[in-house]
Formats: sequence, structure tokens, C-alpha cells
Amino acid sequence: MKQRFDYYMPTEIIFGPGRLKELAQLELPGKKALIVIGSGGSMKRHGYLDRVIEYLEDNGVEYVVYDKILPNPITEHVMEGAKAARENNCDFVVGLGGGSSIDSAKSIALMAKNPGDYWDYVVGGSGKGKPVEKGALPIVAITTTAGTGTEADPWTVITKSDTNEKIGFGSKYTFPTLSIVDPELMLTVPPKYTAYQGMDAFFHAAEGYLALAHQPASDCHALEAVKLITQYLPVAVREGENLQARCAVAWANTAAGIVESLSSCISLHSMEHALSAFHPELPHGAGLIALSIPYFTYISSKTAERFSDLARAMGQDCSGLSDEEGAEKFIDALKTLIKDIGMEDLKLSDYGVKKEEAAELARNAMDTMDGLFHQDPYKLSFEEVVHIYENCF
Ligand SMILES: [Fe+2]
Repeated sequence: MKQRFDYYMPTEIIFGPGRLKELAQLELPGKKALIVIGSGGSMKRHGYLDRVIEYLEDNGVEYVVYDKILPNPITEHVMEGAKAARENNCDFVVGLGGGSSIDSAKSIALMAKNPGDYWDYVVGGSGKGKPVEKGALPIVAITTTAGTGTEADPWTVITKSDTNEKIGFGSKYTFPTLSIVDPELMLTVPPKYTAYQGMDAFFHAAEGYLALAHQPASDCHALEAVKLITQYLPVAVREGENLQARCAVAWANTAAGIVESLSSCISLHSMEHALSAFHPELPHGAGLIALSIPYFTYISSKTAERFSDLARAMGQDCSGLSDEEGAEKFIDALKTLIKDIGMEDLKLSDYGVKKEEAAELARNAMDTMDGLFHQDPYKLSFEEVVHIYENCF
């Protein structure tokens, strides 16, 4: 067991079906909320925005709605949202929706309190990495998807569109103060997105288990998340209304968010961010699925340690097997899971990605999200990253 680690997990998490209504009574961190939602209209269509507004009003809280967030959120909307928060004297931010809305809420909360441009604070790529001196407004996350784990971590992924940089960034100020995870809100997520989002959570857990930063508490959550997703994600994809499966996947996602807080993702996530920075129509989870088999096959051919534990969490019998054989079991189980969720035919070329882009993608991944490469159990060279991208075609 690792003997030195830090544990910081400051978010209050309210988990369970039907618990959104508790927003009417919970102690909230302010009196006027900026509610941040996506531009697609699903929060209005499903009545979730109306419910949140009603509960906030019951709780004596005023609100302003900011509804422009894109599926791959951009800096322009962070700055505009922060301006709206300041001009309306909002004293906290509510992110309602999937990862894009909640991540944007975090970045808006930061920029509502700090001067300059968002990219002044981002670490990596052309970000200036200035210290966040004035903290952030308190953040309340209400998640309607099971994918990013953002309700249980400090990370916010925003794209600088003019330079194609999609960078995950965060600080101790961008942990939500309060997160509500109500799996009933996830019953309406269509099968394809259930699959993409669930696999995003799967990779947060699996990568966090393999990362050099792993620690005892992240290991427990990672193996549980991998197990629950293997068992229940295919059910949630097939039977969207199955609340038991939705609860299991929702908790696996939140647990994987805790893994991201206590451990780290590895370079699979850097490589995917490069893909969806250049091809914003590519869903993050789809990019991860498309990269995953060539990626893990290559990494485990260099160092197979800890892969057997992941295989076991996926229900494989690894008794008496070497690390290398255990890693093969993990790859087999991952292929089966991808098939069980109907994603075995997913191809990067369907999203317009070309094999000739491999070198440019590798450069982008290693420039903008360099930090995660330092968490890899095997140090990849530029040529090896290009090679993995090429193997995805
Ligand atoms: Fe992710």
C-alpha cells in the first residue's frame, strides 16, 4: 500500500432517487443563484429547470438563468456567464445538467471573483497558470447524467476555440460545495449517450487505478466503479427506465469523480481531449471508447502491473495468471463491455477524424494536457502516442 498521500474531498453529496426536491429545504450557500444550463433546451423540455426554480423559490433564493452552454463548452461563455453573475449580484452558481453545464458553472464561479481572462488561470497549453487569488463563488452541482463525475471533483474542461485547446483545470475552490445526484433525472438519457457517459466514468475509474497518483481510497472507489459499470451499464443502455441500473451507474460515476479528485486520469484523457478539440462533434465518451483498446493494449504491453485487479473487478478469473495474462483478460473484458453497450462498430472516421492527423493530435495532447502523461504507469514518447492514434484506424 502507498504510505504517503493527501485526502481532500470537501463536497457534500446528496445521493438517491427523488432527492432533487430536497433543494427546497437544504442549506444553500447563498441567496441569489446564477443557474447555468446548456443551450440544447433539454433542461426546459424535461421540466428540470422549472423544478429547480420552484425549489429555489421555496428556499427563499432568487435566481438568474444563463442558458448558452455548448456540449463542448468554450471560454467565451465562461466570461459571459461570469459577467452575468457579477451584474446580477449572484452569490452562488448552480450547474444543472451534464458535465458541460456543471464544468461551466465552476469556471463561471471562478471568473465571477477573479480579474482578467479565464485562460490567465488555466494551467497547460497557452494558459498562463496565474494563481487563483480570490477563490470562487460557491458551486451547487445538480447532475442529470452519469458521465463526468464533475459533481465530485474540482475539474472543469473548457475549450479555447481559437487555438483548439481543450484543457481540464481546477483548484480547491472549484469543488462543488453541494452536489445533488438524483438518478431519477437520468431516466430520460437516450441509450447512446448513456453508453458514452457511462464509459467516460469507467475510464475515470480505470485510469485513476493505473495512475501513479493512486491511493488507498481512490483504489476502493475505482474498483467499485469499474465493477458496477461492467455489471449495470449494459442494463441501463438496454432498459433506460431501470432505476436500479441507473442508481448503480450514477453512483459508479460519482465514485469515479472521487477517484479523479484523489488520484488522476492518465494520458488516455489527454489523447481524447485533443480529438474532441479538433472535432467538437465527437462526444468525449465516444472518443475514449475509440481510443481505449489500442491505448490499453499498448500501455499494458509495456507495464502490465495492476491490470489484473481491473480484470477481476470486471468479473474475470485471474487466479494463477501473470500480470501480462491479467492485462489480456482486462482487454478482453473491455471489448465485451463495449460490445454489450452496442459500441463495437464505433469508428473515429465516422466523426471525420483522419489517420493523417495522428502527429498533430499527439502534439496537441502532449502540449495541452501534458500533466496526465506524468501520471502514466509507462512513459510514452511522442512517436508512441502517434502510433497509438494510428492504431485506432
Ligand atoms: Fe472524462
